[in-house]
Amino acid sequence: MESIGTLAGGIAHDFNNILNIIRGYATLIGQQPTAGWQITKSLKVIDQEIERGASVVRQLLAVARKTETHLASLDVNDIVLKVCELIKTFPKTITVALNLERDVPSVLADPNQMSRALLNVCVNARDAMPTGGQLSIRTETVDANKVRDRRFDGGVNGYICIAVSDTGTGMKDEVRGRIFEPFFTTKGIGEGTGLGLAIVYSIIKEHNGLIEVDSVAGHGATFRLYLPIQSGEQSVADAPKKSAASGGIHPSRSGTVLVVEDEVALVQLLKKLLSQAGYRVLAAMDGEEAIDLYQNHKAEIDVVLLDLGLPKITGFDVIPRLKEQNPGVNIIITTGYLEADLKAKLFRTGVKDCIHKPYLVDDVIERIGTLLENSWTASNEA
Ligand SMILES: Nc1ncnc2c1ncn2[C@@H]1O[C@H](COP(=O)(O)OP(=O)(O)OP(=O)(O)O)[C@@H](O)[C@H]1O
Ligand SMILES: [Mg+2]
Repeated sequence: MESIGTLAGGIAHDFNNILNIIRGYATLIGQQPTAGWQITKSLKVIDQEIERGASVVRQLLAVARKTETHLASLDVNDIVLKVCELIKTFPKTITVALNLERDVPSVLADPNQMSRALLNVCVNARDAMPTGGQLSIRTETVDANKVRDRRFDGGVNGYICIAVSDTGTGMKDEVRGRIFEPFFTTKGIGEGTGLGLAIVYSIIKEHNGLIEVDSVAGHGATFRLYLPIQSGEQSVADAPKKSAASGGIHPSRSGTVLVVEDEVALVQLLKKLLSQAGYRVLAAMDGEEAIDLYQNHKAEIDVVLLDLGLPKITGFDVIPRLKEQNPGVNIIITTGYLEADLKAKLFRTGVKDCIHKPYLVDDVIERIGTLLENSWTASNEA
């Protein structure tokens, strides 16, 4: 697991940069006045594939527990209903039965990751019922003490349990003992990668939850996912909410942006598109250059778009050096991947926004505009 983690982190950084460059230049091609419908159509395919590439990276990072978690207060029943929409594509020989507890207390969880975990479990249930059967999903509140009795760490407020049962093939003990191992599968080549439950396991663990499996060969299986009920407190990892100030107002398209990025092709692209959008652009290719440039031009620079993985001085170390020069500096970080803890820490040090690669330059322009709009509003109100 450790080595997969290290490998995944490295690959994610490079791979997301590559995807970012492809996406950016594809956008440029699409903006050519001569681009006809055929080119537009091809570009759409390229964009879909870029999304798929990015999702493969996320998948790998999920297994390596290096994926980011965006926690929000969630009603697990909503997640179940969302997944039910997705499993409508299951064969008609499989009937789906729901038994959802009313007014279930909320949990602090990442909605996308939770849907993914639940979907993986449901897909396995489908695969275990090749000739049909029943898939049942149940949600219920479980008392903390009851869970503690089973020698789990009891959450203060108890747990919400999502139980997924099937009437399929079930598992022998030898199989059940290995199902959470990455790449363990009993399915044929091309049918299963063996990553599904490894992902479920890391997601649930990431949420301080627990998984239980009951199964008897020939008699189906039940997977129970337990999530701690949300306490009154906000999680640290909960990223700051974006200001709603931009509603109806067009973000300003003027000001100077210092782009700090070590990928030449990306710098050129950002220079071109940000200038087109009305910004003046200064660029630094490494951390040292960024600090020097900021020192000499801090009166003009409105926003610093800072990549984290930089040569000489990393983005992480550039941040305090810029803050020394100007405590109110507007920094937006860009990154291929960032662990939730680290991201929360960066926000606490005063980073204003974080954009994930592969990004659309349009999105970057939008976020710079919003940040400037907010900081000008704030300084006018002060
Ligand atoms: N509901 C189930 N009933 C019977 N066996 C199951 C069930 N869920 C999982 N398994 C067993 O656990 C193994 C591992 O599951 P996992 O989801 O990790 O991988 P996979 O389904 O084989 O492949 P992938 O999910 O990557 O497509 C499966 O190959 C299967 O043998
Ligand atoms: Mg699976």
